[in-house]
Amino acid sequence: MKLKFSSFSEYCGCFLFLQVMMSSEKLMVTTPTRHVLARVGGQAELSCQVTPPRSVESMEVHWLRNGHFQPVYLYRGHGVDGEAAPEYVNRTEFVKDAIGKGRVALRIHNISISDDGLYRCSFNESGFIDVASMNLSVAAVGLETQIHVQAPDAQGVMVECNSAGWFPQPQMEWRDSRGKILPPSSKLYSQDEARFFHVKMTLLTNQSQGSIMCCIFNPVTREEKQTIIILASEYCQVWWLI
Ligand SMILES: *[C@@H]1O[C@H](CO)[C@@H](O)[C@H](O)[C@H]1NC(C)=O
Ligand SMILES: *[C@@H]1O[C@H](CO)[C@@H](O)[C@H](O)[C@H]1NC(C)=O
Ligand SMILES: *[C@@H]1O[C@H](CO)[C@@H](O)[C@H](O)[C@H]1NC(C)=O
Ligand SMILES: *[C@@H]1O[C@H](CO)[C@@H](O)[C@H](O)[C@H]1NC(C)=O
Ligand SMILES: *[C@@H]1O[C@H](CO)[C@@H](O)[C@H](O)[C@H]1NC(C)=O
Repeated sequence: MKLKFSSFSEYCGCFLFLQVMMSSEKLMVTTPTRHVLARVGGQAELSCQVTPPRSVESMEVHWLRNGHFQPVYLYRGHGVDGEAAPEYVNRTEFVKDAIGKGRVALRIHNISISDDGLYRCSFNESGFIDVASMNLSVAAVGLETQIHVQAPDAQGVMVECNSAGWFPQPQMEWRDSRGKILPPSSKLYSQDEARFFHVKMTLLTNQSQGSIMCCIFNPVTREEKQTIIILASEYCQVWWLI
């Protein structure tokens, strides 16, 4: 196709039109991982990509959080190091290995529960602005489980299972040796100042189950901690004495 221009202004008009056409071949911000899982004390990478791929070296890139006035991190462009909000200072890294292809990431170290939530990365350059969102899910699994067994009385034996250091709120249940769920006598969840969950569950049992299991499950990491309690029955004790 040949374009003929009868005047300079027509040429300019066409040129502008082509430019608009090209920029409306929509530059967009996407994220390869809309859901990022991180463990307390570990690290997370919030990655963002401009498509079609092009260098974003000269763009302004922000990572933002709802309810936080200051950006988590702000890269002002032109290769100059960015700034982090006070609670992120010294634990963020701007990953720009692929900045020429439109991909950058914010790496956050020493993750804490307060980092859990929705983040947005925003790219801005004269005339272009777009945002992508991602969820950072922070998880923690309790390190130890404590078992208390009360002296048996007429009703049976009261067994208590205790564990701390979970996030988010875990699921908890008693199971017998065949995996059947045993209804708990009580179940209690509480949260400490650092927002870790403590769980406490009791079971009144007749010692007839042989062994019972206290199971605590983290719904985010899908990890389960099982503690097996073996209840020696009275018959067994007698038998051993003979
Ligand atoms: C960050 O690290 C620098 C150098 O190690 C230190 O001077 C500064 O106090 C640290 N800031 C925070 C908020 O931890
Ligand atoms: C990680 O953060 C916690 C508080 O959230 C702090 O007590 C600890 O010293 C930090 N660890 C490192 C290695 O910076
Ligand atoms: C976009 O970047 C310019 C400077 O490059 C800045 O003045 C402006 O406030 C930014 N806009 C938004 C919405 O962040
Ligand atoms: C993030 O999680 C919230 C609540 O779980 C959900 O409503 C929202 O759609 C999620 N956002 C993204 C970008 O996945
Ligand atoms: C224990 O056994 C007694 C007598 O058989 C019964 O009444 C009681 O309900 C049992 N308790 C439990 C927790 O199974």
